[in-house]
Amino acid sequence: MKRAAHAFPGLILLMMASTVARADTAAGQAAFEETGCQSCHYTQGPATEKSIADQLAKKGPELWYAGSKFQQPWLEAWLQDPQPIRPMKFNSVMEPSPGGHPALNADQAGPVADYLMSLTSDVVEAGAVKVKKKNLKGKLIFIKKMPCSGCHQFPTKKKFSGGLSGPSLVGAGERLNPDWVLAYLREPKVFKPVKMMPVFVGVLSDKDMKNVAAHVATFK
Ligand code: HEC
Ligand code: HEC
Repeated sequence: MKRAAHAFPGLILLMMASTVARADTAAGQAAFEETGCQSCHYTQGPATEKSIADQLAKKGPELWYAGSKFQQPWLEAWLQDPQPIRPMKFNSVMEPSPGGHPALNADQAGPVADYLMSLTSDVVEAGAVKVKKKNLKGKLIFIKKMPCSGCHQFPTKKKFSGGLSGPSLVGAGERLNPDWVLAYLREPKVFKPVKMMPVFVGVLSDKDMKNVAAHVATFK
């Protein structure tokens, strides 16, 4: 009985906290819809693209697993100052990015980030990638063994290097959740049924996928 009495205030606090979180998520979803974000981004999983035509019809990346893919502080800041991530225009390998993604003000960005962070995929295994300062095996895979750097910009001592056809991975350590990067390498079809990136399943071992995901997580 005594125990229950002690547990009770804690329980109320927990319930209050979750109500606040839900309210923010709801406010964020409302702001997302009111500002027209859903005209370019879909937020309901699983992936709906079945053909190249479906992929080309998309005006922006799918966001239904945004909470698994991104890190919240990066997301909240980017929504207020959205600099290009893909050097090329979305769905193009020829035309440079026009930039000019719609920006949100600080009052909207917090709740919208909360809302987007609530959208998750259950194939992402939390804590699967151990991030350290360096992962030399992952670095070798990224730069030499696999063609990753041919399509992705990455930071170097001088500035950055790498190809332009894939999203830039400069700053990926702050932007991407390493566990999502691993999940994306392991099960690309869950996230991108119509692929524009080669599939590394069967090419890289699971251990090496973890190494390369850990290496990407060091990108400043
Ligand atoms: C006219 C279409 C369009 C609208 C409207 C739009 N976006 Fe985007 N969004 C894009 C494109 C294209 C990209 C890819 C930009 C890049 O890679 O540089 C993108 C990227 C993003 C990303 C990063 C996704 C990723 O996987 O890299 C987020 C988060 C995002 N948008 C959120 C929003 C929010 C929130 C709104 C509403 C305020 C919004 N977008 C409105 C087209 C749009
Ligand atoms: C032939 C070009 C190409 C190669 C090679 C390639 N990628 Fe990609 N990558 C892409 C493209 C294009 C995308 C965008 C996703 C899509 O629509 O398929 C992408 C997406 C990604 C993303 C998600 C980035 C984001 O912000 O959405 C990561 C992480 C990534 N690649 C890592 C790798 C790693 C690690 C390797 C090597 C093992 C690699 N890529 C090899 C083209 C490539």
